Amino acid sequence: MQSDYIAIFDSGVGGLSVLRELLKIMPNERYLYFGDSANAPYGSRPTQEVKALTLAAAEKLVARGIKALVIACNTATSAAIADLRARYPQLIVVGIEPALKLAVDTCPQGNIGIMATQVTLREKKFQALSQRVAQNCRLFPIPAPGLVELVESGKADSPEMDALMEKLLSPYRGKLNALVLGCTHYPFAQAAIAKALPGTALFQGGQGTALQTRRRLEQAGLLYDGLGELVLENSLQSEQILALSHHLLEV
Ligand code: DGL
Repeated sequence: MQSDYIAIFDSGVGGLSVLRELLKIMPNERYLYFGDSANAPYGSRPTQEVKALTLAAAEKLVARGIKALVIACNTATSAAIADLRARYPQLIVVGIEPALKLAVDTCPQGNIGIMATQVTLREKKFQALSQRVAQNCRLFPIPAPGLVELVESGKADSPEMDALMEKLLSPYRGKLNALVLGCTHYPFAQAAIAKALPGTALFQGGQGTALQTRRRLEQAGLLYDGLGELVLENSLQSEQILALSHHLLEV
């Protein structure tokens, strides 16, 4: 039986929203989470920088002997997933994408907001996804500058977050059937988002990514049913960021 780690990568603490979905459906696996908070946010950087940071982090994780790599960051997936797959053809590599399909299935001709980083919204991957699944919908791309920074500083649930979401989302109140949370940091701000957009259905990709990871491991005969293990690491190496990471996993 294989017991190597499943590695999970994000620009910071956002990928913990994916890790918690993995833990729900595969509690007995061994997880190694790495958040690159020292370099967050990725979403406002040039794509080449995001790609270089992601490839460098992946190289270190792969060197630790992992059986799967989950890119729990929509921004890093947009910038680097093709290179990662080419570099590690033997490894299971799963990348999160905005849950646009789920939203379209619920309201096939509706008005759908997509909150995501600038990198995700401008990259080809997202353009291709919208053309593939959302041709009959009206899409509203919504970049959310400042949101990731608040989550990274432990203010996901705070008056500052309420104010930022009110400012960003109130122009869309009553106009959207669905809103896709296309960045893994955003589910941690779900309370403030729901307050600003009452009645709008919210969608996120964490659960789909966890299910896809389980499917891939199962197909490869690499599922592990042991005692389970969770290693949380961060490029900031501070007590504070690790305490925040544990807290967010329990939210
Ligand atoms: N969590 C990342 C995502 O899913 C992006 C956050 C950032 O800008 O660093 O897109």
